[in-house]
Amino acid sequence: MARSTPLAALSCLILLNCLKPLISWPANDKHASDMSQPDFDQYLGDYLKPGDTVALLLDYDGTLAELTSHPNLTQMSDEMRESLRNIANSGKAFVSVISGRDVDGVKEKIGINNIIYSGNHGLEVLYPNGTRHNQGIPKDVADNFDKMIDHLNREVVHHGSWVENKRVSITFHFREAEQKYVPEMAARAKEIIESYGYRANPAHASVEGKPPIQWNKGLAAEYILGSSFDPNWRTRKVLFAGDDTTDEDVMKMIKGTGRSFRVTKDKDLVTNADYKIPSVDAVYHLLKWIESRVV
Ligand SMILES: *[C@@H]1O[C@H](CO)[C@@H](O)[C@H](O)[C@H]1NC(C)=O
Ligand SMILES: *[C@@H]1O[C@H](CO)[C@@H](O)[C@H](O)[C@H]1NC(C)=O
Ligand SMILES: [Mg+2]
Repeated sequence: MARSTPLAALSCLILLNCLKPLISWPANDKHASDMSQPDFDQYLGDYLKPGDTVALLLDYDGTLAELTSHPNLTQMSDEMRESLRNIANSGKAFVSVISGRDVDGVKEKIGINNIIYSGNHGLEVLYPNGTRHNQGIPKDVADNFDKMIDHLNREVVHHGSWVENKRVSITFHFREAEQKYVPEMAARAKEIIESYGYRANPAHASVEGKPPIQWNKGLAAEYILGSSFDPNWRTRKVLFAGDDTTDEDVMKMIKGTGRSFRVTKDKDLVTNADYKIPSVDAVYHLLKWIESRVV
């Protein structure tokens, strides 16, 4: 009734509030303008039915926990942990967290047993029974690791930047560095990393130095799904959420088979994900939605 009054029509035009229920923000839709709570019924209702078994793959930093100025300060909320634990213990879900951190660091942050943890973008895998699986890194490259860190510390660690030692890879962080030094220190860090036989990849206010083996989060996800979830995992339900460029490899890998979410507030960002969601809080609502299907 109210819909037909001139006032309501005017408010609709000015505020676009009549369109609100229709607006969602599928990935790469630049016109999406509503970044309030995503409608997971709409996104996943047809995909994940009550009673389905699902593989849930997740990034940690910026996805399950807000980014902070130092990785040590990052905390997952108790509500998030409880929901993730309920999903992991439901018997209907296979959960793996694939992080850029070292694997023990990410397990310590999350603290749930029934999860397969993968660290260093998948270079390390830690199973619930304590078994580890590490990808092979050539010996000469591994032997250069400490020298590379010393060199970075000597030359590019100044004015607020620092090197995070992740045992098989490093991250050179400059998000706290004075802006005027950043372009030069980032470029020099890349040169140093490469001079020791490591690959230098740009990430969130950082440069990552990874061993020169063909490995990324997408291949890690494929390995974990195939070896621990189901060799025919492409016929099963798979969900993934991540916030960074390194997560795009997982989104690409499950494209068409699974459903993926890129955590970002950037409406213009081009992504391989099926949907963009705006925040860690939206990831919490995603977990609650999944929990309601599997518990
Ligand atoms: C971060 O934590 C690690 C391991 O607990 C510790 O060695 C390091 O000094 C900490 N760094 C800061 C800046 O707190
Ligand atoms: C631990 O779990 C992994 C993955 O499921 C399996 O490959 C391995 O054999 C298990 N190890 C032991 C000692 O049970
Ligand atoms: Mg992240």
